[in-house]
Amino acid sequence: MPRITMTIDGEEVGGEVDNRTTILDALRERFGVTSPKKGCDHGQCGACTVLLDGRRHLTCLSLAVAHDGAVITTASGLAEGDELHPMQQSFVDHDGLQCGYCTPGQVCSAIGMLAEVAEGHPSHVSADLDGDVDLTDDEIRERMSGNLCRCGAYVNIVTAIREASR
Ligand code: FES
Ligand code: FES
Repeated sequence: MPRITMTIDGEEVGGEVDNRTTILDALRERFGVTSPKKGCDHGQCGACTVLLDGRRHLTCLSLAVAHDGAVITTASGLAEGDELHPMQQSFVDHDGLQCGYCTPGQVCSAIGMLAEVAEGHPSHVSADLDGDVDLTDDEIRERMSGNLCRCGAYVNIVTAIREASR
């Protein structure tokens, strides 16, 4: 089996993985990092989202061997010691937290989404494909639409993300 190394939440890890192992399974089963969750294992729920080389990424859809050397930040690696990442703090402050299953992916996705906005990437609902993105509520909802919950408890997430973007 091939051997890979990854830097996960600031720690370099390495080990042998089967060619068919997804990043998600490598994280959870091989390297013991359990904050990314396996919700659907089909790229449909967003529970497995991490930041991979700075961009949000669905880890259930990618093979670990294709990302040898990747730098991955999961929800549990966002805080600086006891100080939460501003997005995590905003989710707490605005009661945007959901269950432990979908929240880690929501937080990682929200951070990645704001970086995409800052870089001017348009979304399906952007009025202007070439100019700056106006972070409307519709933009936030559209960009977070890949992160699902079965409970429908999304009410405060838009506010939490908006506050964290300021
Ligand atoms: S587990 Fe990856 S998108 Fe659902
Ligand atoms: S799946 Fe997490 S709150 Fe619904």
